[in-house]
Amino acid sequence: MRILVTGGAGFIGSHLCDRLIESGHEVICLDNFYTGHKRNIQHLLSHPCFELIRHDITEPIKLEADQVYHLACPASPVHYQSNGIKTIKTNVMGTMNMLGLAKRLKARFLLASTSEVYGDPEIHPQSEEYWGNVNPIGIRSCYDEGKRISETLAFEYHRQNAVDIRVARIFNTHGTRMLENDGRVVSNFIVQALKGIPLTVYGDGSQTRSFCYVSDLVEGLIRLMNGEHVGPVNLGNPGEYTILQLASTIQNMVNPDAEIVFKPLPQDDPRRRQPDISKAKQWLNWEPQVQLEEGLTKTIAYFRDYLNNSK
Ligand SMILES: NC(=O)c1ccc[n+]([C@@H]2O[C@H](COP(=O)([O-])OP(=O)(O)OC[C@H]3O[C@@H](n4cnc5c(N)ncnc54)[C@H](O)[C@@H]3O)[C@@H](O)[C@H]2O)c1
Repeated sequence: MRILVTGGAGFIGSHLCDRLIESGHEVICLDNFYTGHKRNIQHLLSHPCFELIRHDITEPIKLEADQVYHLACPASPVHYQSNGIKTIKTNVMGTMNMLGLAKRLKARFLLASTSEVYGDPEIHPQSEEYWGNVNPIGIRSCYDEGKRISETLAFEYHRQNAVDIRVARIFNTHGTRMLENDGRVVSNFIVQALKGIPLTVYGDGSQTRSFCYVSDLVEGLIRLMNGEHVGPVNLGNPGEYTILQLASTIQNMVNPDAEIVFKPLPQDDPRRRQPDISKAKQWLNWEPQVQLEEGLTKTIAYFRDYLNNSK
């Protein structure tokens, strides 16, 4: 198949491009390099089945493809908050453009949505039936509400125009090719520990998150795309850890002498996050295979190399 991956030069998108190419597909990677990098796909540039197009999805584009994985959107608070209006445009105009393209091509369309649609959840763990608790005017809203309207758009195109959609709600994912400085908790702690500077925990560290390794996530996306269930489907690792547990695990793995310091909690930071993955298990026969420390070992090795090479 010919498969379009928007945001294909980003962290998750580049791993998805790798997997699709390995499976023998042709891949068109569309990216404006806002948070993505050529280094993530450098190794694919000479591959005959790989094509890179620098393009901002807020502008329409005409292409031919059989499937569309729609991942383009900055995913870390540092980046999505640095230009909140652009984040909204990417989610609204960008998602509409990509859905319009899928409609014209009669291509199956998978939206990379997020656990952030649940906001600061009042039920735990979060199942797909939960409608969420999102502040519509807070500093995370451009992303949280942006993804909620992306889901709404996908379902409207599905109902009105019979676009064949799939919706994945992705929970925290980590792995190689994450950015060094984008404020995501796993990369933050690892980079701080490797640099020998204190690990910053926001709040008292009792807030929880779950951490999925990127290879597991990509497998889930591919199964969802090629299965018959529209979703939304939670994709994440149900192992739940407090932020303080994560900090101590990384401290022990990288640098037991590194200090842990506490800073005030940012506005609207969710207190608890854990996916209920019953649907993914039942519909996709999917569950994560990579346990936290195994995944962290790979992510740590990546950042160790990356920091050594950028010295
Ligand atoms: N990483 C996670 O933990 C996580 C969790 C939930 C959801 N997601 C979703 O998965 C997707 C990929 O996330 P990621 O972690 O790889 O993030 P990322 O920031 O590494 O990748 C996003 C990619 O989209 C590109 N992009 C952004 N705006 C664009 C635009 N207007 N036009 C074209 N390209 C644009 C960026 O340059 C980048 O390559 C995102 O949609 C994100 O919301 C990620």
